[in-house]
Amino acid sequence: ILAIWHQLTKTEIPELTRVSVMMRERSRVEDTMYAMQKAGAGSLQVISDFDMTLTKFAHKGKRVPTTHNILNNRLLIDDDSTVKMKKLFNTYYPIEIDASLSPEEKLPYMVEWWTKVHDLLIQQRIRKDELARAVRDSNAVLREGCSAFFDCLAEQRVPLLIFSAGVGDILEEVIRQNHVFHPNVHIISNYMDFDHIGVLQAFKGQLIHSYNKRAGALSQGAALRELHGQPNVLLLGDSLGDLSMADGVSTAQNILTVGFLNDQVEERKESFLNSFDIVLLRDETMDVPNAILRFIV
Ligand code: C5P
Ligand code: MG
Repeated sequence: ILAIWHQLTKTEIPELTRVSVMMRERSRVEDTMYAMQKAGAGSLQVISDFDMTLTKFAHKGKRVPTTHNILNNRLLIDDDSTVKMKKLFNTYYPIEIDASLSPEEKLPYMVEWWTKVHDLLIQQRIRKDELARAVRDSNAVLREGCSAFFDCLAEQRVPLLIFSAGVGDILEEVIRQNHVFHPNVHIISNYMDFDHIGVLQAFKGQLIHSYNKRAGALSQGAALRELHGQPNVLLLGDSLGDLSMADGVSTAQNILTVGFLNDQVEERKESFLNSFDIVLLRDETMDVPNAILRFIV
């Protein structure tokens, strides 16, 4: 099997031989990919996280803003609030990625972070008609090769579910401005609720944060009929919390998970390797997901 694998990777998927690619169990990856290839595009769906998975972690030496951080713009909120949001990020983000804490231990802090930021945004009376400009002003950038990834899925009619604990309105605007908001794209996220004059008054539905995606997957994901006929799942994420995004797919036959390990790489390597089938170390491109897709469809 090993010999066949080496042939497969060298000839068909050379991307998987890169030093930035790690796998705990190559044979499982291989078996899953062959099964998915046999079933073809008609059986495939992709479930992906958004921030730091479809977008880059850093670009030209600077951190790329998350959808929440795109809102941290003086166009939308006052100076005092921009400082507050930055402080909240510096307090809670290290907790989110702390390798020494379990998801259960992180959970209350995540709820606190999201709640504080959403309350602040509501207080600031953000206007719907300013969002597109805030996105245009921002340094939001999709991973290299991301457009090709979106385009290929659309061409092959493979449903893409973007499952994000970020802000849905901003996420939509980012993919719209990148010309990749194709009809096969479905989104589960935190959406803003505007009043009749277009001022933010609340967030809709149950809060989604990085460690409660399972609940969202079971309620909203299971409701997406387009995803039911597709038993094979390619899942992309950058957090262990993203692994539960496919929990709503009750008919899943093969699941291949790819984890982008962007930050705290040494500290989190072991847990990522134990949880994701393929781990990508500090890889700012979509080369590997694109190569997997080319192999399957
Ligand atoms: O799309 P994804 O689920 O990755 O979006 C959530 C990410 O947004 C979290 O991983 C977190 O780091 C970030 N976040 C943020 N500001 C907040 C809340 C979350 O930047 N107030
Ligand atoms: Mg993410």
